[in-house]
Amino acid sequence: MRYRTPTYNRRSFLAHATGIGAAVAAGSLLPLEEAQAASGPMLTRPIPSSGERIPVIGMGSWVTFNVGEDIAVRTARADVLKTFFAQGGGMVDSSPMYGSAQDVIGWSLRHLQAQGMSTDSLFSATKVWTPVFEKGPGQMAQARRLWGLNRFDLMQVHNLVDWEEHLQTLAADKEAGRVRYVGITTSHGRRHGDFAAIMENHPLDFVQFTYNILDREAEARLLPLAAERGIGVIINRPFRRRGLINQFAGKPLPEWAGEIGATSWPQFLLKFVVSHPAVTCAIPATSQIPHMVENMGVGRGPMPDAGMRARMVRHVEAL
Ligand SMILES: NC(=O)c1ccc[n+]([C@@H]2O[C@H](COP(=O)([O-])OP(=O)(O)OC[C@H]3O[C@@H](n4cnc5c(N)ncnc54)[C@H](OP(=O)(O)O)[C@@H]3O)[C@@H](O)[C@H]2O)c1
Repeated sequence: MRYRTPTYNRRSFLAHATGIGAAVAAGSLLPLEEAQAASGPMLTRPIPSSGERIPVIGMGSWVTFNVGEDIAVRTARADVLKTFFAQGGGMVDSSPMYGSAQDVIGWSLRHLQAQGMSTDSLFSATKVWTPVFEKGPGQMAQARRLWGLNRFDLMQVHNLVDWEEHLQTLAADKEAGRVRYVGITTSHGRRHGDFAAIMENHPLDFVQFTYNILDREAEARLLPLAAERGIGVIINRPFRRRGLINQFAGKPLPEWAGEIGATSWPQFLLKFVVSHPAVTCAIPATSQIPHMVENMGVGRGPMPDAGMRARMVRHVEAL
Protein backbone atom coordinates (compact mmCIF):
# COMPACT_ATOMS: atom_id res chain seq x y z
CA MET A 1 0.00 0.00 0.00
CA ARG A 2 1.38 3.35 -1.02
CA TYR A 3 0.56 5.13 2.23
CA ARG A 4 2.04 2.67 4.67
CA THR A 5 4.42 4.36 7.06
CA PRO A 6 7.60 2.46 7.68
CA THR A 7 8.66 5.20 10.07
CA TYR A 8 6.09 4.12 12.68
CA ASN A 9 6.87 1.20 14.91
CA ARG A 10 4.31 0.23 17.54
CA ARG A 11 5.98 2.29 20.26
CA SER A 12 6.27 5.51 18.28
CA PHE A 13 2.77 5.05 16.92
CA LEU A 14 1.31 4.68 20.38
CA ALA A 15 3.22 7.76 21.49
CA HIS A 16 1.79 9.62 18.53
CA ALA A 17 -1.76 8.39 19.17
CA THR A 18 -1.47 9.34 22.82
CA GLY A 19 -0.24 12.76 21.76
CA ILE A 20 -3.30 13.22 19.58
CA GLY A 21 -5.57 12.18 22.44
CA ALA A 22 -3.86 14.61 24.79
CA ALA A 23 -3.99 17.37 22.19
CA VAL A 24 -7.72 16.83 21.76
CA ALA A 25 -8.31 16.86 25.49
CA ALA A 26 -6.21 19.96 26.01
CA GLY A 27 -7.41 21.69 22.86
CA SER A 28 -3.76 22.32 22.08
CA LEU A 29 -1.70 22.53 18.90
CA LEU A 30 -1.35 19.85 16.22
CA PRO A 31 1.56 17.42 16.67
CA LEU A 32 4.84 18.87 15.46
CA GLU A 33 5.40 16.29 12.72
CA GLU A 34 2.07 17.22 11.15
CA ALA A 35 2.93 20.89 11.18
CA GLN A 36 6.21 20.01 9.46
CA ALA A 37 4.52 17.72 6.92
CA ALA A 38 2.02 20.44 6.03
CA SER A 39 4.57 22.46 4.10
CA GLY A 40 5.59 19.49 1.93
CA PRO A 41 3.54 16.93 0.01
CA MET A 42 -0.08 15.95 0.73
CA LEU A 43 -0.56 15.60 4.48
CA THR A 44 -1.26 12.05 5.63
CA ARG A 45 -2.55 10.73 8.92
CA PRO A 46 -2.12 7.28 10.48
CA ILE A 47 -5.02 4.87 10.76
CA PRO A 48 -4.84 4.29 14.53
CA SER A 49 -5.40 0.52 14.39
CA SER A 50 -2.49 -0.12 12.01
CA GLY A 51 -0.30 2.96 11.62
CA GLU A 52 -0.83 2.89 7.82
CA ARG A 53 -1.02 6.49 6.61
CA ILE A 54 -3.69 7.88 4.29
CA PRO A 55 -4.08 11.36 2.74
CA VAL A 56 -6.24 13.77 4.75
CA ILE A 57 -8.40 14.57 1.74
CA GLY A 58 -10.45 11.74 0.25
CA MET A 59 -13.42 11.81 -2.13
CA GLY A 60 -17.13 11.19 -1.59
CA SER A 61 -19.38 9.93 -4.39
CA TRP A 62 -22.98 10.50 -3.32
CA VAL A 63 -24.83 12.35 -6.12
CA THR A 64 -21.61 13.33 -7.91
CA PHE A 65 -20.90 9.80 -9.23
CA ASN A 66 -24.53 8.67 -9.47
CA VAL A 67 -24.66 9.60 -13.14
CA GLY A 68 -26.00 6.47 -14.82
CA GLU A 69 -24.96 5.12 -18.19
CA ASP A 70 -24.07 8.20 -20.26
CA ILE A 71 -20.51 7.63 -21.48
CA ALA A 72 -19.66 11.33 -21.84
CA VAL A 73 -20.67 12.02 -18.23
CA ARG A 74 -18.88 8.89 -17.02
CA THR A 75 -15.74 10.01 -18.82
CA ALA A 76 -16.01 13.41 -17.15
CA ARG A 77 -16.20 11.70 -13.74
CA ALA A 78 -13.23 9.48 -14.63
CA ASP A 79 -11.31 12.70 -15.28
CA VAL A 80 -12.27 13.97 -11.82
CA LEU A 81 -10.96 10.71 -10.35
CA LYS A 82 -7.80 11.01 -12.43
CA THR A 83 -7.24 14.49 -10.98
CA PHE A 84 -7.86 13.13 -7.49
CA PHE A 85 -5.12 10.52 -7.89
CA ALA A 86 -2.77 12.96 -9.65
CA GLN A 87 -3.14 15.33 -6.68
CA GLY A 88 -2.23 12.62 -4.17
CA GLY A 89 -5.70 11.36 -3.24
CA GLY A 90 -6.40 8.00 -1.60
CA MET A 91 -9.78 7.26 -0.04
CA VAL A 92 -12.83 7.00 -2.29
CA ASP A 93 -16.07 6.51 -0.34
CA SER A 94 -19.28 5.09 -1.75
CA SER A 95 -22.35 3.02 -0.87
CA PRO A 96 -24.98 0.80 -2.49
CA MET A 97 -27.34 3.62 -1.44
CA TYR A 98 -25.78 5.96 -4.06
CA GLY A 99 -27.55 4.60 -7.15
CA SER A 100 -25.06 4.00 -9.97
CA ALA A 101 -22.08 5.55 -8.10
CA GLN A 102 -20.27 2.27 -7.43
CA ASP A 103 -20.77 1.17 -11.03
CA VAL A 104 -19.41 4.52 -12.24
CA ILE A 105 -16.41 4.34 -9.89
CA GLY A 106 -15.55 0.84 -11.17
CA TRP A 107 -16.00 2.01 -14.77
CA SER A 108 -13.78 5.02 -14.10
CA LEU A 109 -11.04 2.89 -12.50
CA ARG A 110 -11.02 0.56 -15.53
CA HIS A 111 -11.09 3.57 -17.87
CA LEU A 112 -8.00 5.07 -16.20
CA GLN A 113 -6.20 1.72 -16.11
CA ALA A 114 -6.91 1.25 -19.84
CA GLN A 115 -5.13 4.56 -20.42
CA GLY A 116 -2.10 3.20 -18.61
CA MET A 117 -2.71 5.15 -15.42
CA SER A 118 -1.96 3.71 -12.02
CA THR A 119 -4.84 3.52 -9.58
CA ASP A 120 -2.67 1.88 -6.92
CA SER A 121 -3.13 4.70 -4.44
CA LEU A 122 -6.87 3.93 -4.20
CA PHE A 123 -8.07 3.31 -0.65
CA SER A 124 -11.45 1.73 -1.40
CA ALA A 125 -14.22 2.42 1.08
CA THR A 126 -17.83 1.43 0.66
CA LYS A 127 -20.74 0.32 2.81
CA VAL A 128 -23.26 -2.39 3.48
CA TRP A 129 -26.78 -0.98 3.58
CA THR A 130 -29.65 -3.39 3.98
CA PRO A 131 -32.06 -4.14 6.83
CA VAL A 132 -32.09 -7.79 5.75
CA PHE A 133 -28.96 -9.21 7.33
CA GLU A 134 -28.82 -12.21 4.96
CA LYS A 135 -28.53 -9.85 1.98
CA GLY A 136 -25.36 -8.20 3.32
CA PRO A 137 -22.76 -10.66 1.95
CA GLY A 138 -24.36 -10.60 -1.53
CA GLN A 139 -24.43 -6.80 -1.51
CA MET A 140 -20.75 -6.64 -0.59
CA ALA A 141 -19.84 -9.24 -3.24
CA GLN A 142 -21.73 -7.12 -5.77
CA ALA A 143 -19.71 -4.07 -4.65
CA ARG A 144 -16.44 -5.97 -5.20
CA ARG A 145 -17.63 -6.86 -8.72
CA LEU A 146 -18.67 -3.28 -9.50
CA TRP A 147 -15.38 -1.78 -8.34
CA GLY A 148 -13.35 -4.67 -9.84
CA LEU A 149 -11.68 -5.51 -6.52
CA ASN A 150 -10.96 -8.74 -4.65
CA ARG A 151 -11.27 -6.97 -1.34
CA PHE A 152 -12.14 -3.55 0.03
CA ASP A 153 -9.81 -1.52 2.17
CA LEU A 154 -12.76 -0.42 4.30
CA MET A 155 -16.32 -1.72 4.66
CA GLN A 156 -18.71 0.37 6.76
CA VAL A 157 -22.21 -0.25 8.06
CA HIS A 158 -24.19 2.58 6.48
CA ASN A 159 -26.25 4.69 8.90
CA LEU A 160 -26.17 1.91 11.51
CA VAL A 161 -28.75 -0.09 9.52
CA ASP A 162 -28.87 -3.57 11.11
CA TRP A 163 -25.42 -2.79 12.53
CA GLU A 164 -25.18 -5.59 15.07
CA GLU A 165 -25.58 -8.36 12.52
CA HIS A 166 -23.54 -6.68 9.81
CA LEU A 167 -20.63 -6.07 12.19
CA GLN A 168 -20.48 -9.84 12.80
CA THR A 169 -20.26 -10.44 9.06
CA LEU A 170 -17.59 -7.75 8.75
CA ALA A 171 -15.52 -9.29 11.54
CA ALA A 172 -15.60 -12.62 9.69
CA ASP A 173 -14.77 -10.88 6.39
CA LYS A 174 -11.80 -9.16 7.99
CA GLU A 175 -10.59 -12.49 9.32
CA ALA A 176 -11.01 -14.04 5.85
CA GLY A 177 -9.18 -11.15 4.12
CA ARG A 178 -12.20 -9.86 2.19
CA VAL A 179 -11.87 -6.49 3.89
CA ARG A 180 -8.92 -4.80 5.66
CA TYR A 181 -10.74 -2.37 7.96
CA VAL A 182 -14.29 -2.13 9.30
CA GLY A 183 -16.41 0.79 10.44
CA ILE A 184 -19.80 2.41 10.94
CA THR A 185 -21.33 5.62 9.60
CA THR A 186 -23.91 8.23 10.40
CA SER A 187 -24.53 11.80 9.23
CA HIS A 188 -26.44 15.00 9.96
CA GLY A 189 -25.75 14.53 13.70
CA ARG A 190 -28.12 11.56 13.88
CA ARG A 191 -28.00 8.92 16.63
CA HIS A 192 -24.77 10.13 18.24
CA GLY A 193 -25.71 8.41 21.52
CA ASP A 194 -26.09 4.99 19.85
CA PHE A 195 -23.01 5.68 17.77
CA ALA A 196 -20.86 6.41 20.83
CA ALA A 197 -22.12 3.28 22.59
CA ILE A 198 -21.03 1.14 19.61
CA MET A 199 -17.64 2.87 19.56
CA GLU A 200 -17.22 2.03 23.23
CA ASN A 201 -18.18 -1.62 22.95
CA HIS A 202 -17.11 -2.93 19.55
CA PRO A 203 -13.77 -3.19 17.77
CA LEU A 204 -13.83 -0.61 14.95
CA ASP A 205 -11.06 0.68 12.70
CA PHE A 206 -13.05 3.68 11.44
CA VAL A 207 -16.10 5.78 12.18
CA GLN A 208 -17.66 8.22 9.72
CA PHE A 209 -19.90 11.13 10.67
CA THR A 210 -20.69 14.75 9.82
CA TYR A 211 -18.44 17.55 11.02
CA ASN A 212 -18.06 21.04 9.61
CA ILE A 213 -17.53 24.56 10.87
CA LEU A 214 -21.23 25.05 11.70
CA ASP A 215 -22.09 21.42 12.61
CA ARG A 216 -19.69 20.81 15.49
CA GLU A 217 -21.74 18.47 17.66
CA ALA A 218 -19.11 15.74 17.16
CA GLU A 219 -16.57 17.80 19.13
CA ALA A 220 -18.41 17.05 22.36
CA ARG A 221 -18.24 13.27 22.32
CA LEU A 222 -17.46 11.44 19.07
CA LEU A 223 -14.15 13.06 18.19
CA PRO A 224 -12.58 12.78 21.69
CA LEU A 225 -13.93 9.23 22.01
CA ALA A 226 -12.39 8.21 18.67
CA ALA A 227 -9.01 9.60 19.79
CA GLU A 228 -9.28 7.83 23.14
CA ARG A 229 -10.32 4.48 21.60
CA GLY A 230 -7.82 4.65 18.70
CA ILE A 231 -10.46 4.74 15.96
CA GLY A 232 -9.88 6.47 12.63
CA VAL A 233 -12.31 9.28 11.76
CA ILE A 234 -13.76 10.03 8.30
CA ILE A 235 -15.71 13.26 7.96
CA ASN A 236 -18.69 13.47 5.62
CA ARG A 237 -20.61 16.60 4.53
CA PRO A 238 -17.67 18.96 5.15
CA PHE A 239 -19.53 21.60 3.08
CA ARG A 240 -23.01 20.64 4.32
CA ARG A 241 -23.65 19.56 0.74
CA ARG A 242 -22.62 22.91 -0.71
CA GLY A 243 -24.86 24.76 1.76
CA LEU A 244 -21.89 26.36 3.53
CA ILE A 245 -20.21 27.35 0.27
CA ASN A 246 -23.42 29.05 -0.88
CA GLN A 247 -23.90 30.70 2.51
CA PHE A 248 -20.46 32.35 2.52
CA ALA A 249 -20.13 33.01 -1.21
CA GLY A 250 -20.06 36.75 -1.83
CA LYS A 251 -18.57 37.46 1.59
CA PRO A 252 -14.86 38.27 1.54
CA LEU A 253 -12.45 35.79 3.07
CA PRO A 254 -10.77 37.24 6.16
CA GLU A 255 -7.36 38.66 5.26
CA TRP A 256 -5.71 36.26 7.74
CA ALA A 257 -6.96 33.22 5.73
CA GLY A 258 -3.58 33.38 3.98
CA GLU A 259 -1.92 32.39 7.26
CA ILE A 260 -3.52 28.95 6.98
CA GLY A 261 -2.99 28.69 3.23
CA ALA A 262 -6.69 29.09 2.33
CA THR A 263 -7.39 31.09 -0.83
CA SER A 264 -11.15 30.37 -1.06
CA TRP A 265 -14.12 29.55 1.15
CA PRO A 266 -14.07 25.82 0.26
CA GLN A 267 -10.42 25.69 1.32
CA PHE A 268 -11.14 27.64 4.51
CA LEU A 269 -13.97 25.22 5.37
CA LEU A 270 -11.95 22.08 4.63
CA LYS A 271 -8.89 23.33 6.53
CA PHE A 272 -11.10 23.66 9.58
CA VAL A 273 -12.34 20.07 9.28
CA VAL A 274 -9.04 18.28 8.70
CA SER A 275 -7.10 20.29 11.28
CA HIS A 276 -9.02 18.68 14.12
CA PRO A 277 -6.39 16.36 15.65
CA ALA A 278 -8.74 13.36 15.83
CA VAL A 279 -9.74 13.52 12.14
CA THR A 280 -8.06 11.03 9.83
CA CYS A 281 -9.56 12.31 6.56
CA ALA A 282 -12.46 14.24 5.05
CA ILE A 283 -14.34 13.08 1.96
CA PRO A 284 -15.70 16.12 0.07
CA ALA A 285 -17.62 15.19 -3.09
CA THR A 286 -17.24 17.02 -6.37
CA SER A 287 -18.11 16.56 -10.03
CA GLN A 288 -15.69 19.24 -11.22
CA ILE A 289 -11.95 19.13 -11.85
CA PRO A 290 -11.24 22.73 -10.66
CA HIS A 291 -13.10 21.99 -7.42
CA MET A 292 -11.09 18.78 -6.99
CA VAL A 293 -7.82 20.69 -7.43
CA GLU A 294 -9.02 23.33 -4.96
CA ASN A 295 -10.03 20.71 -2.39
CA MET A 296 -6.84 18.69 -2.72
CA GLY A 297 -4.80 21.85 -2.17
CA VAL A 298 -6.08 21.83 1.41
CA GLY A 299 -3.82 18.88 2.22
CA ARG A 300 -0.76 21.04 1.57
CA GLY A 301 0.54 24.16 3.25
CA PRO A 302 -0.08 25.36 6.80
CA MET A 303 -2.84 23.98 9.02
CA PRO A 304 -4.70 26.05 11.63
CA ASP A 305 -3.78 25.38 15.23
CA ALA A 306 -6.32 25.37 18.10
CA GLY A 307 -6.23 29.16 18.49
CA MET A 308 -6.72 29.75 14.80
CA ARG A 309 -9.54 27.16 14.66
CA ALA A 310 -11.38 29.09 17.38
CA ARG A 311 -10.84 32.30 15.41
CA MET A 312 -12.28 30.66 12.28
CA VAL A 313 -15.42 29.67 14.18
CA ARG A 314 -15.86 33.14 15.67
CA HIS A 315 -15.45 34.66 12.24
CA VAL A 316 -18.07 32.55 10.41
CA GLU A 317 -20.53 32.76 13.30
CA ALA A 318 -20.37 36.54 13.09
CA LEU A 319 -21.04 36.66 9.35
N1 LIG B 1 -24.30 8.34 6.29
C1 LIG B 1 -23.27 8.33 5.45
O1 LIG B 1 -22.55 7.36 5.36
C2 LIG B 1 -23.01 9.54 4.61
C3 LIG B 1 -23.90 10.64 4.61
C4 LIG B 1 -23.60 11.75 3.85
C5 LIG B 1 -22.43 11.75 3.06
N2 LIG B 1 -21.61 10.67 3.03
C6 LIG B 1 -20.38 10.65 2.20
O2 LIG B 1 -19.72 11.91 2.35
C7 LIG B 1 -19.52 12.51 1.07
C8 LIG B 1 -19.50 14.02 1.19
O3 LIG B 1 -20.76 14.52 1.61
P1 LIG B 1 -21.79 15.24 0.62
O4 LIG B 1 -21.56 14.73 -0.76
O5 LIG B 1 -23.14 15.07 1.21
O6 LIG B 1 -21.47 16.77 0.73
P2 LIG B 1 -20.20 17.74 0.66
O7 LIG B 1 -18.96 17.01 0.31
O8 LIG B 1 -20.26 18.54 1.91
O9 LIG B 1 -20.61 18.71 -0.54
C9 LIG B 1 -20.63 18.27 -1.87
C10 LIG B 1 -21.05 19.44 -2.73
O10 LIG B 1 -20.09 20.48 -2.62
C11 LIG B 1 -19.76 20.97 -3.91
N3 LIG B 1 -18.32 21.26 -3.93
C12 LIG B 1 -17.31 20.42 -3.64
N4 LIG B 1 -16.11 21.05 -3.71
C13 LIG B 1 -16.39 22.32 -4.09
C14 LIG B 1 -15.58 23.46 -4.34
N5 LIG B 1 -14.25 23.42 -4.20
N6 LIG B 1 -16.20 24.62 -4.71
C15 LIG B 1 -17.55 24.69 -4.84
N7 LIG B 1 -18.38 23.62 -4.62
C16 LIG B 1 -17.80 22.45 -4.23
C17 LIG B 1 -20.09 19.88 -4.88
O11 LIG B 1 -20.55 20.45 -6.09
P3 LIG B 1 -19.69 20.28 -7.45
O12 LIG B 1 -19.97 18.91 -7.95
O13 LIG B 1 -20.23 21.37 -8.32
O14 LIG B 1 -18.24 20.50 -7.09
C18 LIG B 1 -21.19 19.11 -4.18
O15 LIG B 1 -22.46 19.60 -4.59
C19 LIG B 1 -20.66 11.92 0.24
O16 LIG B 1 -20.46 12.10 -1.15
C20 LIG B 1 -20.65 10.49 0.71
O17 LIG B 1 -19.60 9.75 0.07
C21 LIG B 1 -21.88 9.58 3.80
